[in-house]
Amino acid sequence: MKKILFICLGNICRSPLAEGIAQHIAQQKDLDLEIDSAGTSNWHEGENPCGHSIKVAGQNGIDISKQRSRPVTKQDITYFDCVVAMDEQNKSDLENFGFTYVYKLGDFGGYQGSDVPDPYFFPGFEGFEKVFEMVKNCVSDFLEQECK
Ligand code: 4NP
Repeated sequence: MKKILFICLGNICRSPLAEGIAQHIAQQKDLDLEIDSAGTSNWHEGENPCGHSIKVAGQNGIDISKQRSRPVTKQDITYFDCVVAMDEQNKSDLENFGFTYVYKLGDFGGYQGSDVPDPYFFPGFEGFEKVFEMVKNCVSDFLEQECK
């Protein structure tokens, strides 16, 4: 079983969506994967995902409401096979923390290495719909390419 960890800054907006979408696809396609997400910060430790992320996931048939934010740990370095960052800052923070190889989600799905924009800083729901679409396309391509 391959183990995949998705990472963003707060683990309340972007990486919870990536976790939920990856779990959904793995279930649909019967892929043998363990999937989790975490934050490079502990700012929201123990909190559920932000309301807009829960809402946009729910509109797409994915329940992420029971997830809880947690910070990344040293044990994650050896436990997970693949670590996937949402943006360049996450990637460099993870490399400085000790991860040897960090994927960037925007390198998949035809986004030419773009950062997944942080919707936390954009008020309103529309940003979350765009982020959902991007994360869905990237995660789907990532699983196709790396986890068959
Ligand atoms: P995330 O979004 O990294 O996608 O979970 C953020 C959530 C919270 C903060 C920043 C980004 N914050 O500054 O508290």
